[in-house]
Amino acid sequence: MSEASPPTRPTLVVTRRLPAAVERQAAELFDVRLNTTDTALTAEQLADAMRSADALLPTVTDAITAAVLSVSPRRVKIVANFGVGYNNIDVATARSLGIVVTNTPDVLTDDTADLAMTLLLTAARRVGEGERHVRAGEWTGWGPTHMLGTRVSGKTLGILGLGRIGCGVAKRASEGFGMRVIYFDPPVPIGHARACGAAPRASIEDVLRESDFVSLHMPASTENHHLINAERLALMPRHAILINTARGDIVDEAALAAALGRGAITAAGLDVFEREPAVNPALLKLENVVLLPHLGSATTETRVAMGERALANLKSYFSDTPPRDRVA
Ligand code: 8YV
Repeated sequence: MSEASPPTRPTLVVTRRLPAAVERQAAELFDVRLNTTDTALTAEQLADAMRSADALLPTVTDAITAAVLSVSPRRVKIVANFGVGYNNIDVATARSLGIVVTNTPDVLTDDTADLAMTLLLTAARRVGEGERHVRAGEWTGWGPTHMLGTRVSGKTLGILGLGRIGCGVAKRASEGFGMRVIYFDPPVPIGHARACGAAPRASIEDVLRESDFVSLHMPASTENHHLINAERLALMPRHAILINTARGDIVDEAALAAALGRGAITAAGLDVFEREPAVNPALLKLENVVLLPHLGSATTETRVAMGERALANLKSYFSDTPPRDRVA
């Protein structure tokens, strides 16, 4: 009598290095191909993965385009994105080809909201400039008018996009800093907005005109591309500060650099950019913008939780249970 062969495990390609605990769990569950060099895969390597694996676990640095998804023959049945945002994936094409797509919501809400507040405080209180000043040996001593910033407590914060992260920022601002929070996001039920401590406004323009600080929390989409452009920046008061932890292309970076350069708004804090990792050279020259390398979810706790959430989605799919975070 021949021995029963062990059941074959689905093949999973993980496109970037993940925290060790997540890579271990992936290896327990799947016949996993890890990226030991952590260099982003090329379009050809992604296409190869689509042909040879059952599942793909990509990150924001992988462009899962229509061409990548449409390889023939294709074996991948599920793309489990590592991230709540999934604008790196052509979801419409995935849907039309019957490829399941999942994301990782909830687990990164608090850390990303914390980072938005970090940027807001850093930009308002000129923390980046101050640090550079001290490290450069330029500090000659305390002075009553030295490096004055802007008060945060009690000011008005405008939130564009009152989803999970927008709500997290609204709560931190209203409960922690006594800020008055207003928002624009028509589909959000008023009860949810109240629980976030935010009051609705009728338009983006109303929020921009009335806010001392504006924080962006909508997903990237065709409609949201350059939502914050020269015309809308012109509506913000001169003392206003803009924060973006959502996606870079929501803001017209060249228009923002021009507005910051001529003092049309006071400062900005950016964690995301139009062409990451490239940063508009005009922004790099400015003192009144805080620039971070897409750190919104970058804590050990959250990156482990994101990996576990992506694996849970894959595990469900391969045990014929609907994945919790299916977006296509
Ligand atoms: C992630 C993010 O680091 O989840 C998102 O949408 O922007 C970040 O928190 C990134 O997406 C990793 O793929």
